[in-house]
Amino acid sequence: MSKIADPRLAEAGKKNFEWARKHMDALVKLAEKHEEKKTLEGVRIGVCLHITKETSVLIDSLIRAGAEVFIAAANPLSTNDDIAAYLATRCHIWAWRGETEEDYKWCIKQVITKKPDQIIDDGADMHVMAHEMNAKWVRGGTEETTTGVVRLRSMEGEGKLMYPIIAVNNAKTKFLFDNRYGTGQSTIDGILRATSLLLAGKNFVVVGYGWVGKGIAIRARGMGARVYVVEPDPIKALEAHLEGFHVGRISKFAKIGDIFVTATGQKGVIRYEHMERMKDGAILANAGHFDVEIDIRTLNSKARNIREVRQNVEEYELPNGKKIYVLARGRVVNLVAAEGHPPEVMQMSFANQFAATVYISNNYKTMKAGLYDVPVKVEAEVAAAALSAYGIELERMTREQKQYAKSWKV
Ligand code: ADE
Repeated sequence: MSKIADPRLAEAGKKNFEWARKHMDALVKLAEKHEEKKTLEGVRIGVCLHITKETSVLIDSLIRAGAEVFIAAANPLSTNDDIAAYLATRCHIWAWRGETEEDYKWCIKQVITKKPDQIIDDGADMHVMAHEMNAKWVRGGTEETTTGVVRLRSMEGEGKLMYPIIAVNNAKTKFLFDNRYGTGQSTIDGILRATSLLLAGKNFVVVGYGWVGKGIAIRARGMGARVYVVEPDPIKALEAHLEGFHVGRISKFAKIGDIFVTATGQKGVIRYEHMERMKDGAILANAGHFDVEIDIRTLNSKARNIREVRQNVEEYELPNGKKIYVLARGRVVNLVAAEGHPPEVMQMSFANQFAATVYISNNYKTMKAGLYDVPVKVEAEVAAAALSAYGIELERMTREQKQYAKSWKV
């Protein structure tokens, strides 16, 4: 029996779904308003997200609002098979852990050929394929990640976008929390689950000091590591310096690091010339969307010997005799070796996804092809839902203070 049709796996997935849902009140409460009204009745939604317990809560919310959902994974190695089996009881799904590159594309293609009205994407692979397939039936969509927004911005610049897309990533209630605290915790979680080693006292090199790198650096420091940051942007490098991290070049830190994590959205930021200089036993992991940040291809071609020493840990013996270890094959370590961002963070990202999907459904007729920010009203709604979910009461300003805030008199 295939895993996706296994009722025992589906039952386990349902429990994980329920556990996540308990911790995603911001999304659940926001979506509840649309359940009675069936706001998304009859809307066919194509989804390309990591198949996690948190994603299953978003899918459940879309279905409750009346949508018909078709889903593929956003990464060949990130699918939780129990969740896939559970989702197979609720919607149409093509996803399993360990897809080949070909399988991965085939799964995304299956979704597009089912003619979705809208697309929810993570990384833009489904949007890109929809454009390659000239999917004229797509009314609009959303995009979850920094990487995806960069790709779509480039398509927009070349006049290639065929429909409106809301850049969910750019909502404050997304990137300030998901990218920083979500990736911060889950990347450390992935490294620890894969290696089961101590972080305290280790030299921990973070390549890239965007929101993701910032989150990883502060959490690594919190676990007692000495943190080194590599960053080409002058302002971000200054931020890292004044945060108390060592800042410098990868060519210098290559010799020093015990653990390296890439979070740049770039390609080839750790190259073979750096790997050759690394200490025997150095550990490499990637937290960026694509598996191109660490040059694994060259490493594969140069290594004298390659073997799996633990689940998600590959040992590479270099011609110079040193051994270095790559986690999760250089793919998103937080989703391959751990379970991705925790539900309390994803409730905000997915509340934005849900609300932006409803917005597109209501407004696509008047929206031109192009990239859009999450509407201000939606941002405010998500922030209010998240504050309520966290049980936080905001201070109220007095009338006098409101006046003072606008005045030039002391
Ligand atoms: N991206 C990062 N963490 C995630 C999660 N838990 N679910 C879906 N997408 C994610």
